[in-house]
Amino acid sequence: MSVKSKLQSIAAKLLPARYYCEDALLTGHTFVKPEYFDASYQRGLRATNGRDSRNRWRVAVAIWAAKQALRSNGCFVELGVNYGFTSSAVLHNLTALNRRRRFILIDSFEGVEGKRFDSNYNHSYESVVANFKEWPHAEVYKGWLPKVLPSIPFGTIAYLHIDLNSARHEVESFQFLQSMLTKGSVVLLDDYCYSGFTKTQKAWDALGLNILALPTGQGLIIV
Ligand SMILES: C[S@@+](CC[C@H](N)C(=O)[O-])C[C@H]1O[C@@H](n2cnc3c(N)ncnc32)[C@H](O)[C@@H]1O
Repeated sequence: MSVKSKLQSIAAKLLPARYYCEDALLTGHTFVKPEYFDASYQRGLRATNGRDSRNRWRVAVAIWAAKQALRSNGCFVELGVNYGFTSSAVLHNLTALNRRRRFILIDSFEGVEGKRFDSNYNHSYESVVANFKEWPHAEVYKGWLPKVLPSIPFGTIAYLHIDLNSARHEVESFQFLQSMLTKGSVVLLDDYCYSGFTKTQKAWDALGLNILALPTGQGLIIV
């Protein structure tokens, strides 16, 4: 556990329960959970075998983004899947709401290019395919981004969650997919202004888009 996370867990114990204190975010504002949130988060944890990043607010934002994207035409896409934590939570939530949309999940399943065999990342494509089996409309692709993109039949896109922890590959992948985004579609950047991700923010800002910086560290774009 890093010093920052240790300090945060001490603060969480000292503060009254109404404070949200995890994932580099401490606030007295109310953490408003979307409908079916707890069960959705638990489904996310099933994908990681219980490993908990304690980032509930970020997951709540992803669920909001997916629900908002249901108003637009197109498939749902995640770039950077790892164990499938966030997308499992999102899919569980949409299923509870009786909604389904084609969901495309893409990862190298070999970590970040040039930094392979990082033990933080899942290297088993098969385990992720097994995790998403309960949703026949979910498709898992293994490949390096952005190179793999031309081989995937996207059609149009309504929801795009980008989470590669690799600024150049994130931006290049977005640029490839940008023309497929439909009006009102939602792009969620997991690490846009997250603590320690200054390079990522600079790379995104260079595109001149209207990105909402969220206190969770995420960035939000409505197309
Ligand atoms: C932070 S994890 C994704 C976490 C996931 N979105 C979630 O919320 O549970 C980043 C993932 O991006 C993948 N990745 C990083 N660079 C990539 C690239 N250029 N092509 C494909 N996958 C990549 C890594 O393998 C890793 O699984």
